[in-house]
Amino acid sequence: MSTQDNFKRQAARKALEYVPHDEYIGVGSGSTVAIFIEELASIKDRVRGVVAASIESRDLLEQHGIKVVALADVGKLPVYFDGADEVNHSLQMIKGGGAALLGEKIVAHASRQFICMAGESKYVSKLGAFPLPVEVVPFARSWVASQLVKLGGRPVLREGVITRGGHEILDVHDLEIYEPMKLEDEINRIPGVMENGVFARHPADVLILGHSDRAEVIT
Ligand code: 5RP
Repeated sequence: MSTQDNFKRQAARKALEYVPHDEYIGVGSGSTVAIFIEELASIKDRVRGVVAASIESRDLLEQHGIKVVALADVGKLPVYFDGADEVNHSLQMIKGGGAALLGEKIVAHASRQFICMAGESKYVSKLGAFPLPVEVVPFARSWVASQLVKLGGRPVLREGVITRGGHEILDVHDLEIYEPMKLEDEINRIPGVMENGVFARHPADVLILGHSDRAEVIT
């Protein structure tokens, strides 16, 4: 197992302690969530069903025999489990490296508690070294890009990627993110932006940070 995978597994195993009995839960996507789903399979009878934020996670849950349910059928969820590309000391995150940020933000907002699982390298004092994913309507892409340049960023189209909603992703480099909440709102106000990968208005409630030999819980 690679070092990074070991960090992720430490976090995912610890996260099982937060899986409630006889409730529906939400899961995001990415390689940490894939490990979490593997671990969840060992206690799958504990949950009533799972809302998946991406098609990849839905397929993985089904492969493990875990019941998948639609958000529309369950409404509010008690808890949501997901990874992050970066997470700061206020538990605000950058997400969307896997292009599933829109679904992830919707399911996260529909949940009372957000449990973020991440390897120790993702824990940063300031967000922004990871290029910020912004999901855009294809027709508006160059207009949105020009507005992101005005905010100090350098948007780069993620080639060959079309999201579940039929949108494109601009990865915005060189942003100085001093006020994550302000930036999250500012980018979402640009016409043509569907959503951006700053998760600051709804940060994680619990961060489970995987180290080589243990998981650390940060609240
Ligand atoms: C996908 C995401 C993921 O949570 C994020 O990219 C982290 O992925 P990984 O667990 O593979 O490091 O936001 O859109």
